[in-house]
Amino acid sequence: MLPDPQLNFWAHTPAPLMVLAPMEDVTDTAFRELVMRISQPGQLQVVYTEFTSTDGLCHPVGRKRVEERLKVSDTERRMLRENNVKIVAQIWGKNPEKYRQALQYITDNYEFDGIDINMGCPVRKVVAHGSCSALIDNESLAAEIIDATRQGTHLPLSVKTRLGVKKPDTERWMTFLLQQPLEAIILHGRIQKQMSEGLADWNQIALAARLRNLMAPYIKIIGNGDVESVQEGHDKSSEFQTDGAMIGRGIFKNPWLFAPLKTQISREEKLQTLLLHLQLYEKSWSSIKNFAILRRFFKIYLTGFDGAAVLRARMMQVNTYEEARESIKEFNAFVAKSESHTILS
Ligand SMILES: Cc1cc2nc3c(=O)[nH]c(=O)nc-3n(C[C@H](O)[C@H](O)[C@H](O)COP(=O)(O)O)c2cc1C
Repeated sequence: MLPDPQLNFWAHTPAPLMVLAPMEDVTDTAFRELVMRISQPGQLQVVYTEFTSTDGLCHPVGRKRVEERLKVSDTERRMLRENNVKIVAQIWGKNPEKYRQALQYITDNYEFDGIDINMGCPVRKVVAHGSCSALIDNESLAAEIIDATRQGTHLPLSVKTRLGVKKPDTERWMTFLLQQPLEAIILHGRIQKQMSEGLADWNQIALAARLRNLMAPYIKIIGNGDVESVQEGHDKSSEFQTDGAMIGRGIFKNPWLFAPLKTQISREEKLQTLLLHLQLYEKSWSSIKNFAILRRFFKIYLTGFDGAAVLRARMMQVNTYEEARESIKEFNAFVAKSESHTILS
């Protein structure tokens, strides 16, 4: 199918675009909604689903589990609309025919603003399968996959990838990608071998942007790697000539990252936000997803106030939503009591 230029938000959204990175077991519908609720309007333009297997989507039995990753709750949908944030479904796999079928399924059953192909994940299992970052060294299969996906959708199509496999191969790989029917390329400034180690090389991202200027000025380049604030995203976009920045792990250090005016977050607000996260997660997943997945989030709220370490240790032991809420309530009661003692003494 031909891309519909009207739908190409990558081109229509004023640069620099700030994008929340896809992160498995992190950027589900509950977390994305939470981030939008605590962000300042206009600071975040695009969010992504977790990467979703095209093989899984084509499997009549396996599909049910896999497509949890594509879930967008009604309340998240409202936040997306109200804040004019676009949502991209990220898919992966190695069989072009499965991409075609998966796209058909997504088009018939879901409402996304864009489709992204994962050509960056370095995890051994997927690389051994020949998918994701393994495609960097397999241009002919990468071209077939992009073509099959393009045929299945009018939506803007992007590829999220890395600089190379064993060494930066930016010039060769970008020259190839810039000849494909894509609307955007998200470039993580590391190679496959690095996994998440070392620093992202933004000079290589700048090289990609220069090649783009020469070869395909209509394709947007979004840089990714080690950005920890909206200001840094803007500065890097300007310095390295990209159309925006994608931010991943920075959100663990500061969930209020897309609310740059908010510099001080009180203990009360951190705890209220954790309670909201519990509520959104329970509403979406109840017992479908393992409660233990939530534990990785506790430390992002439980830091920077007196007693945070104690509550964090307690929360790492809880196994249910009810226990989690009860622990926060007990902590608040304890704090209120200590404060009243301090005032009286
Ligand atoms: C827990 C975790 C899960 C991730 N899952 C995905 C994923 O599903 N798809 C993807 O393209 N990248 C995934 N990534 C990579 C991030 O999207 C991003 O490219 C990487 O973390 C570098 O950006 P950062 O330095 O801002 O974190 C994941 C990263 C982390 C830390």
